[in-house]
Amino acid sequence: MEDFQNKLNLIKERIKDIHKPLILELGVKEGRSTKMFLEICDKNDGNLISIDILDYSKVSNNPKWKFIHSSDDNFEYTKKFIEKEVDVLFIDSLHEPNHIRKVFYNYFNFVKINGLIFVDDVIWLPYVKDGYRDNDFVETTNRLTFNKILEIFNSNKDNLTLDMNFSASGLAIMSKIGNHLNSEKKIVNRLFSFKNILKKFYKPKPKN
Ligand SMILES: C[S@@+](CC[C@H](N)C(=O)[O-])C[C@H]1O[C@@H](n2cnc3c(N)ncnc32)[C@H](O)[C@@H]1O
Repeated sequence: MEDFQNKLNLIKERIKDIHKPLILELGVKEGRSTKMFLEICDKNDGNLISIDILDYSKVSNNPKWKFIHSSDDNFEYTKKFIEKEVDVLFIDSLHEPNHIRKVFYNYFNFVKINGLIFVDDVIWLPYVKDGYRDNDFVETTNRLTFNKILEIFNSNKDNLTLDMNFSASGLAIMSKIGNHLNSEKKIVNRLFSFKNILKKFYKPKPKN
């Protein structure tokens, strides 16, 4: 709870001065992020569009809020509701790397240049064996999500900036600097290459 609030504070700090922002949020649930975004919309005369597969339409009756009851990958349907370029995109729906990739590539097109993109839950460290949230499934999912984000960034250094916040389950913070997204490519890890394994075993020993 505390950890998530810290992340919301971090996001709030980054977006608090955007005038008349249009914010797009994927994943509402209890509406903690929704309420924080609506606070910004009230203060800066903005609007929030939130999408969730479950009906969370009762989370707020703020007129600056539009709730879309849909899966966020039902792109033909959701695009009808996004009439302007988006200043802020927050991805916090289905925490599965291929889903995150899919929604990222779709909604990136709606984000304006210099707009901000936040992806929640990208760090695995609390979930490792004997970690304070020890959980095999979440560790694996978040590792794969983290790697996916690195791959996307590595193929798009002219289109994106990337900062990682490693607190608790982590937050990726990106800004859009170019319009065209390239497909991500696997990043080859040479740690376990044949050459490096051989080096490890046949390293010459110091003479004395
Ligand atoms: C981690 S919770 C969101 C937490 C929320 N941002 C908050 O601050 O309280 C994830 C939400 O994503 C929703 N969800 C899961 N799969 C989805 C999908 N394919 N499309 C849209 N929403 C989805 C769930 O119903 C759930 O409400």
